[in-house]
Amino acid sequence: MSATPPLLEARGLVMRFGGVTAVGGVSMSIGEGELRCLIGPNGAGKSTFFKMLSGQLLPTAGEVLLRGRSIAGLHAASIARLGVGVKTQTPSVFDGLSVLESVRIATNAILPPNLARRRADEALERMQIGHLAKAVVGSLAHGQRQLVELSMVVSQAPDLILLDEPAAGMTGREVERLGDLIIDLVRTCSVIVVEHDMEFIRRIARTVTVFNRGVVLAEGPAAEVMSDARVRDVYLGKEAA
Ligand SMILES: Nc1ncnc2c1ncn2[C@@H]1O[C@H](COP(=O)(O)OP(=O)(O)O)[C@@H](O)[C@H]1O
Ligand SMILES: [Mg+2]
Repeated sequence: MSATPPLLEARGLVMRFGGVTAVGGVSMSIGEGELRCLIGPNGAGKSTFFKMLSGQLLPTAGEVLLRGRSIAGLHAASIARLGVGVKTQTPSVFDGLSVLESVRIATNAILPPNLARRRADEALERMQIGHLAKAVVGSLAHGQRQLVELSMVVSQAPDLILLDEPAAGMTGREVERLGDLIIDLVRTCSVIVVEHDMEFIRRIARTVTVFNRGVVLAEGPAAEVMSDARVRDVYLGKEAA
């Protein structure tokens, strides 16, 4: 094979928890600079899939290849160092720290002090929360905290960013801005984003992958996938109801 491998490839990923199959054999390929949306009802296996990509969970079966190199089974920190950043669904910011201190924790972990300082400042500017640098995280609105977490990921300059429900708790205006920020991000890296907000998906989506019951139900251009009868049945219909 002479073709360059994709940035990320999942092959037949399976995750079982006891008798529960959370992910039942998912294969997916993400290219350099690609923005992919992942949707699907609650419990479909989206977060579990992310955790296998980022090393938080060891797959029961299957492979994860980063530029052709197998990474499933590596520690989360090693995968992060190889260029995969993740913003989890559950908040991972410390209420007592300032916004800048929070981001500095992320950059200090991988960079020498001078560079760490600069990258942290740049990340806050890029996520448009430079004015909040000194604010205590615990005093921020939920949507702003999401941007702090996003800044922490961005500051490490990953090649692939996994975002699990980044728009949760955001106002309409904030969701719009987040969409623009993510579109800006894919100028320099690839992004996979799990989101429920359909306005957001329509706004940013190129290729959409739909999960249901641990498998891929549909994949394709946003408009096509959203008019797919099976997708409407399991997901969009439910949302409208
Ligand atoms: N640590 C765990 N132990 C047992 N079951 C789990 C665990 N994590 C997730 N699950 C189950 O796996 C399924 C998929 O969950 P999840 O990946 O969180 O779905 P989604 O993010 O799409 O809502 C659900 O049935 C959930 O209850
Ligand atoms: Mg989830």
